Amino acid sequence: MTLHRPSSASDQPAAFTHDQALIGDYAHPLDGKAGSWQVSRSERPHLYRIQHRLADRPTKVDTVVDLENLQAKLAKWQREGFVKRHDGRDPSTFAHPTFMQDLREAGTRSAQLADVADRERVRIGNVSLPQGAGGPLVPAVNPAYLFASRSDNVLRDVDENRRVMLIGHTGTGKTSLIEQAAALCRQGVLRANMNGQTSVGDFVGFWTVKGGETVWVDGVLPIAMRQGLWLIVDEIDFAEPAILSVLTAVLEPGGQLLLKEKGNEIIAPHPAFRLFGTANAVGAMSRFRHLYQGANLMNEAFLDRWRVYMIDYLSPEDEATVLRQTFGPSVSEAMAHTLAAIAADCRAAFLREDLASAFSTRRLLDWTAMMLRTGDPETAAGPTIYAKVDAEDAALISSIVRHHIAVDNDQDA
Ligand SMILES: Nc1ncnc2c1ncn2[C@@H]1O[C@H](COP(=O)(O)OP(=O)(O)OP(=O)(O)O)[C@@H](O)[C@H]1O
Ligand SMILES: [Mg+2]
Repeated sequence: MTLHRPSSASDQPAAFTHDQALIGDYAHPLDGKAGSWQVSRSERPHLYRIQHRLADRPTKVDTVVDLENLQAKLAKWQREGFVKRHDGRDPSTFAHPTFMQDLREAGTRSAQLADVADRERVRIGNVSLPQGAGGPLVPAVNPAYLFASRSDNVLRDVDENRRVMLIGHTGTGKTSLIEQAAALCRQGVLRANMNGQTSVGDFVGFWTVKGGETVWVDGVLPIAMRQGLWLIVDEIDFAEPAILSVLTAVLEPGGQLLLKEKGNEIIAPHPAFRLFGTANAVGAMSRFRHLYQGANLMNEAFLDRWRVYMIDYLSPEDEATVLRQTFGPSVSEAMAHTLAAIAADCRAAFLREDLASAFSTRRLLDWTAMMLRTGDPETAAGPTIYAKVDAEDAALISSIVRHHIAVDNDQDA
């Protein structure tokens, strides 16, 4: 519980200088048995009446004091945790009167500081990130990529060198958010997929024989740490425990990697090194674990070392914008909105568990591309949707499509 104290929380009676402000009821927010002190103006000028009240008992203390004495009393009550009751409300329910204002001012101050430091940085939406070193590992820019407002806090965390984990259904844009941010600030990226494709050796490194000599080969983690790359650990909820325990060491900013296999070599992270995790069924997404078979639960201590963001599908408006930006004038505004609405309906059916398969932005883009080639939404849905789901799902998705797109009878005539 947060205790609300008068603005000067020290033992000094400095907060009580304006005598009119002293009149009122003083109670203890946590100790109901402590009763309340009532201060009122006395009939005699410059004097105050103090009464101590306990519930259901007669008043025990009833005395008249001068301002100096009253201030000493107030300082004592303040030390004991008494606070002034407003409008007769229970002090344990006092809301901090200027908290939101203080918070907004703090935000404005840090935005001003960020503006000053903005030179040599790349602006992405409302956030700016340092320019990376470039190189062959910088992902290609997707000009159609939309940094919705959901990216702002993620990117701020990247700037502050925090470990960021993005969780959400398949194809919501977790991996691409990080890759596209890297692309814009010309930052090299390495990806490691934990779903059965990455061994501890791949991740940390291994000894091998080359030209008759035994040499050490760095895994993706030490490479990223030494070279200042961003490392995306995809599907982190499938990682084997040995990988998670290595990761834990570098989760703190500045966390060093101890390469036990290489004679305990210590690797300090390059300042540009960043670590990301993505997962479908971690934390708040655990309730969907049955849809992502084989995903492991992650313990709280591990998760506590990350900032974990839920990345949901783009809103239909944003997804329509992405369609228009991806396909240009080939997709009219009305078409884009219809296609985004179909995707939204399929996702709603998925959340109701009427559909077993998710409808990713990736799927929507692929279906649209095929539709532009074939000229027919149903034909296009064959290889891009229907062949990937079971017959029941295909029938339901097809009915959603037909609900939104009027069948063109002229073609059949
Ligand atoms: N905000 C966006 N703007 C433009 N395209 C997007 C956006 N979000 C997602 N996409 C498209 O969707 C595709 C899938 O996104 P991505 O691979 O990032 O999903 P994911 O959440 O990592 O999926 P998975 O859980 O299956 O790994 C991207 O390649 C991109 O084409
Ligand atoms: Mg991904």
